[in-house]
Amino acid sequence: MRVDLQGQTALVTGAAQGIGQAIAKALTANGAQVAYADINGPAVQNSATEANGALAIEMDISDESQVRSGVAQVVRQLGRIDILVNNAGVNTAKHRVNIDQFPIEEWRRIVDIDLTGTYLVTKEVAQTMIPRRSGKIINISSVLGVVPARLQCAFIAAKSGIVGLTRATALELAENGITVNCVAPGSTLTEGTKSLFYSDNAAEKERAQRLLSHVPLGKPATVEDMAHAVLFFAAPESGYITGQTLCVDGGWTAGGFFRDF
Ligand SMILES: NC(=O)c1ccc[n+]([C@@H]2O[C@H](COP(=O)([O-])OP(=O)(O)OC[C@H]3O[C@@H](n4cnc5c(N)ncnc54)[C@H](O)[C@@H]3O)[C@@H](O)[C@H]2O)c1
Repeated sequence: MRVDLQGQTALVTGAAQGIGQAIAKALTANGAQVAYADINGPAVQNSATEANGALAIEMDISDESQVRSGVAQVVRQLGRIDILVNNAGVNTAKHRVNIDQFPIEEWRRIVDIDLTGTYLVTKEVAQTMIPRRSGKIINISSVLGVVPARLQCAFIAAKSGIVGLTRATALELAENGITVNCVAPGSTLTEGTKSLFYSDNAAEKERAQRLLSHVPLGKPATVEDMAHAVLFFAAPESGYITGQTLCVDGGWTAGGFFRDF
């Protein structure tokens, strides 16, 4: 997908790898100057270096003072932030248990990063967009923020929260010419999920098959599929759309049912 982002600046969180890195690359390829932010300093430095020396910011999105200084650094070095992509997020593979067994420490970690982190970065960047009366904020949720599953209560609560936060901030920031939208990825092939989809292990194979049996298109998404949806929301042509969540999920949510995997 090609859009014209010449002269625009962007901040992408969780840009060291996976979907975030693909989003940052796609924004760069379409003309934007992009700041790559991530909690993993060396990894984000590598990704930014690969992208012809883009700006790398080491920042934990769940830490208010790191967010404040990270955003200030981007504004200092790029001049302003036209596009914010709140992509950084975590889940747990270890604690796939019902709520009665779900550890409070894991709940706090996931909600703190996925939901509170999105709030903190949005709050800080919105303060710089409001006086300029323009800006585009794009949040990354999950299909599980739209249709639930069992055994992932913290992730699902946090990602559903992002869908709600998208609507709330879209309403609040509209009068300042700022749009806020959300992309909800389905199962996406990344370094992290590759082992599930291409494993020789019988149990993993069975899990991947179960997962894909409810994806009408029958295959996982690519990171570029997510980046294209973000480009659509980042482009000036989508300027009349705000508060929306776009599921990029191979048809998963079209059925509207819950499932386990
Ligand atoms: N991959 C999928 O199948 C899938 C499906 C649905 C939703 N998502 C969402 O898409 C986003 C990206 O997923 P991914 O698969 O590329 O993940 P990933 O784990 O490959 O990458 C996430 C990046 O975020 C960074 N990060 C983690 N905690 C951070 C923090 N506190 N502050 C700053 N950076 C932090 C990590 O260092 C990493 O570079 C996440 O929000 C995830 O929940 C992914």
